[in-house]
Amino acid sequence: MAAEHTPDGMEAREDRADAEEGLAANRALWDDLAEFHGTDPADRSYDVESFLAGGQTLRGLERELAGDVADRDLLHLHCHFGMDTLNWARLGARATGVDFSPKAIRRARELAERAGLEAEFVEADAQRLPDALAGRFDVVVATYGVLSWIGDLDAWMGGAAAALRPGGRLVLVDLHPVFQTVLTFDPFVADWPYGGGAPQHDAMTGTYAHADAPTEPKKSTQYPYSVGEIVTAAAAAGLVVERLGEHTETETDGRHILPQGPDGLYRFPFSDTYLPILYSLSAVLPAPVI
Ligand SMILES: C[S@@+](CC[C@H](N)C(=O)[O-])C[C@H]1O[C@@H](n2cnc3c(N)ncnc32)[C@H](O)[C@@H]1O
Repeated sequence: MAAEHTPDGMEAREDRADAEEGLAANRALWDDLAEFHGTDPADRSYDVESFLAGGQTLRGLERELAGDVADRDLLHLHCHFGMDTLNWARLGARATGVDFSPKAIRRARELAERAGLEAEFVEADAQRLPDALAGRFDVVVATYGVLSWIGDLDAWMGGAAAALRPGGRLVLVDLHPVFQTVLTFDPFVADWPYGGGAPQHDAMTGTYAHADAPTEPKKSTQYPYSVGEIVTAAAAAGLVVERLGEHTETETDGRHILPQGPDGLYRFPFSDTYLPILYSLSAVLPAPVI
């Protein structure tokens, strides 16, 4: 359950019924997006034809952190319709993708078939991973649009850690909490909390892949977490942080608010420097001391 921080420091729990309602609304939203993404020529994130022709969709950041995945058991959380999962498989991993959207999982299985690639796809809430996934993986990966959908951060981290073998590594690359506070860059408007985990209800239009997507506004519930809360949750789950990166440039701006530089990269100018857009966390499950 997400904690709401009240002014006197007392914590109020998000009501279980509200959390379940938020989860159901989010699932309905992602069911729609799983059917829409990769089907429209204006889609900027998912080029299914290039992928089928052998194109690699993974970015250097997560590939570098995950290391050589050939012959490794890799769990991809929040796998959406499976393109990245299948690219981990292309790199030689025995890949398993998890998503809570049944439509995403159905499409991922179809895509695997069309691509002639092998991967297992499991429909599950990442906050309640099935026991069958426990202790099976060398690498757990989740990227670009992950923790803001999660009401129970400790359950998510606990599940990711439990899925690892001793010595295995969690690789998490996501939008930086500072960047998430910002609604518009010019004029500068910040309207989201920096952390705290309190549910933020909204009606979403458009998508990161397509600013003017012809989709109806849909209810969503998202949760803001600070860098401190994310790292603390990883530590509480028994993970040892190897590296925490804060990245000030990115190839794509799924929020469609940042200026693009002459080099094609997006940055978030701030004074005479830049604020972070992404963070990357690499953390290992230590082997038990005998
Ligand atoms: C922004 S997308 C992630 C995109 C991903 N990086 C990719 O490979 O395309 C977020 C994904 O998280 C999934 N998701 C959201 N909440 C979830 C939950 N509680 N459990 C599992 N998946 C969830 C959505 O269905 C969606 O596919």
